Amino acid sequence: MPEETIAEGLKKSGVSRRDFLKLSGLLAAAMGLTNVPPVSASGLPPRLGRGYSVNRVIAKALETRPRLPVIWLEFQDCAGCSEAITRSNSPTLVNLVLNTLTIEYHETLSAAAGFQVEQAKQDAMQRYAGQYILVVEGSIPVADDGVYCTVGGRTALDLLQEAAAGAAAIIATGNCASFGGLPKAKPNPTDAKGVWELITDKPVVNIPGCPAIPEATTGTIAHFAIFGTLPELDGLHRPMPFYGVTVHDRCLRRPFYEAGKFALSFDDEGAKKGYCLYKLGCKGPTTYNACASIRWDTGLSFPVQSGHPCLGCSQPDFWDGGGFYQGQSAPLDRPELAAIGAAAAAGAALGVGATLVNQAKKKAKGGE
Ligand code: SF4
Ligand code: F3S
Repeated sequence: MPEETIAEGLKKSGVSRRDFLKLSGLLAAAMGLTNVPPVSASGLPPRLGRGYSVNRVIAKALETRPRLPVIWLEFQDCAGCSEAITRSNSPTLVNLVLNTLTIEYHETLSAAAGFQVEQAKQDAMQRYAGQYILVVEGSIPVADDGVYCTVGGRTALDLLQEAAAGAAAIIATGNCASFGGLPKAKPNPTDAKGVWELITDKPVVNIPGCPAIPEATTGTIAHFAIFGTLPELDGLHRPMPFYGVTVHDRCLRRPFYEAGKFALSFDDEGAKKGYCLYKLGCKGPTTYNACASIRWDTGLSFPVQSGHPCLGCSQPDFWDGGGFYQGQSAPLDRPELAAIGAAAAAGAALGVGATLVNQAKKKAKGGE
């Protein structure tokens, strides 16, 4: 186990005690924590049991928990999830998680290159065997012996299996690593797959999105670093603090939806007044993600706020799931995932059902 504690790493990075306590609060908010996890699961000293504030528990954990190493691999991706990390809403949090807590190896952000960086990865996997978090960005092609994505002459599948073997847990960041994403869109020439389809003997957390919301990835890493456990997951392995509600649930256009006021084209009066985008194909009612609350680009906006319908980018098979810019949403979860995603699918179906009922009511009243 790495000897240095998280707090020692922070101190070395010049983080003051005051900032340290501020970060504890930031982390609590980022993880959506309202309750302290059971003491036995967190590994925290017994005196930090129930009754202590979450911030205080986190501050104590940062002082005692060892640094958590992270190895970040990229396969069939556009590096958009890594790019989004650099534009995060919480740069301090992201610095904390990625620079101080963690990163041992990142294919895009590592300063080293070539044999040197490959050796660094091998060293990290050996040194922290069984202890590191493996973050995967991008889907894994398995057609034709995986020849469509190779790094250093080895296939993505080979590299994934090697790194997964020593990981304590795996975080699939982005829709590609979670559900296959864009590379898996029909006709899926490379037979692209998500991590959880290929690695079944390790805990796999899915942080889908195109790209993934950086705070959801870093918040999940932080949860494991601090408590030694993963956050509660839904049926599609998505962390509940970030995927527990739909975009529609928190949407700032929701009052217009409830009032039956819809934009019917991108430049009509309704669009100018900020009306609901459902009739322009918004999939917010069936999409579980935190865009409407965390937002993007330092909290500036998110697609629906900027006038674009939600495309459902955190749902499985969103690219093939019923077309974009069409006035009806449809459940996007794949039939073969229905059993494990029953809760999410039921929620999605309810969202669509409620939407249709609402629309029918409005029409009956002559509202639009
Ligand atoms: Fe917002 Fe879309 Fe829901 Fe309308 S349908 S309230 S635009 S999420
Ligand atoms: Fe994706 Fe919809 Fe958010 S398209 S970025 S889940 S608003």
